[in-house]
Amino acid sequence: MKRKIGIPLVVILGALTRESIASAPSPPDYNCTDQPEGSFDPILLQNGDISAQFIRYGATITHLLAPDQSGTPRDVILGFDYGMDYCAESTHPFFGATIGRVANRIEAGTFSVNGENYNTPLNENGCDTLHGGFVGADRWVWDVSESSDSSVTFTHTSPDLDQGFPGTVKFSVTHMLSSDNTWSIDYSATTDMDTIISMTNHAYFNLNANMNGEGTVLDHVINAPNAGKYIPVDEYLIPTGTIDPVPDYLNFTSPKALSVDIDSGTVDASGGYDNALFFTDYAPNVSRKVISMHSPITGIAVLVTSDQASVQLYTGNNLDSTIPRKKSQCDEGEGEGGECFYEWRGAATLEMQAGVDNANHRDGGFPSIDVKAGSQYKQRSEYKFGVVYS
Ligand SMILES: *[C@@H]1O[C@H](CO)[C@@H](O)[C@H](O)[C@H]1NC(C)=O
Ligand SMILES: *[C@@H]1O[C@H](CO)[C@@H](O)[C@H](O)[C@H]1NC(C)=O
Ligand SMILES: *[C@@H]1O[C@H](CO)[C@@H](O)[C@H](O)[C@H]1NC(C)=O
Repeated sequence: MKRKIGIPLVVILGALTRESIASAPSPPDYNCTDQPEGSFDPILLQNGDISAQFIRYGATITHLLAPDQSGTPRDVILGFDYGMDYCAESTHPFFGATIGRVANRIEAGTFSVNGENYNTPLNENGCDTLHGGFVGADRWVWDVSESSDSSVTFTHTSPDLDQGFPGTVKFSVTHMLSSDNTWSIDYSATTDMDTIISMTNHAYFNLNANMNGEGTVLDHVINAPNAGKYIPVDEYLIPTGTIDPVPDYLNFTSPKALSVDIDSGTVDASGGYDNALFFTDYAPNVSRKVISMHSPITGIAVLVTSDQASVQLYTGNNLDSTIPRKKSQCDEGEGEGGECFYEWRGAATLEMQAGVDNANHRDGGFPSIDVKAGSQYKQRSEYKFGVVYS
């Protein structure tokens, strides 16, 4: 496919620190007090030894409690105590949100479908489209179409050219807790026009619940035996076009703590991992165990099974002790005087996804995210919780 229409990337990036930031499009007024009734009301699920809470805004997971090695439930994902903060908090870190229509970045907010060019909002530094634009799936107020004690299905219809994406698309995401302590996410979508779709969930995990006086995830151990490749990116986290063998700092094919190599080789200016690992055993629609993470402090382990090709490992590099932690994630005595905040590297995401900017790389091994009119997009990703005794 021909590479890119319009201005070469280097010109756009060259201006990034000056004119383009000044001329970057402003976000719309989200008016969080004017969201539909019930947008932020908690939806509680429970099964086995785990429990979770969700809200309709962003079809977001707000709490996820799993037992540690002493059997005490810990809230292992970051979030807000006040539901409206998922809309109102100004840095909008995508805590726990459903991400779409296209997760991750689209270079210069431009792509084509059937030879037709489309433009999506430059909502990251005026440079690229991040996570579906200013009002992506993370800011939709989804309907609840079905629910039980252990599962909830959210649905939403996104109109043609919503954030610039073609086709009227009916989305559905089912969150389920099963008796073997697994949180599963089933995504599906149908479209009336050929389009592109790539969903994920943006849960930030801290398997210590940010407690025990340890606010970072540096001690967490990752193991991803088939993550032998990664998607190289430039300093703006835009793919350079190939899928390459992992360099040493990204080599988690045998168990390794995040602390070991986090400072050697990162491209994220904020310091830390923000990389797409790529699984060499990927085949379309085939679920397999892809990655695990555990904390030696609490013993809590999460094992991810997914049919996706890639995982974005992001270590909360932009957290800077300005967002207050949930009360469930503050040690005794913390949190009242304002001393309990999400710290730099305070979490790790395991965002299961198709890859990065696949629409602009329809070759080179990037999985297709094209969805034809009348056909169905599907994804299933599961996070199974357990304990590893040290
Ligand atoms: C937000 O919506 C509320 C309720 O409709 C309205 O009273 C308020 O003026 C709006 N705020 C802004 C800034 O538009
Ligand atoms: C990753 O590390 C393993 C040893 O732990 C090694 O066998 C493998 O070759 C490394 N992968 C790459 C791409 O260097
Ligand atoms: C994968 O599943 C989707 C949705 O059911 C289907 O449209 C597609 O044809 C499948 N692809 C392969 C290669 O089996």
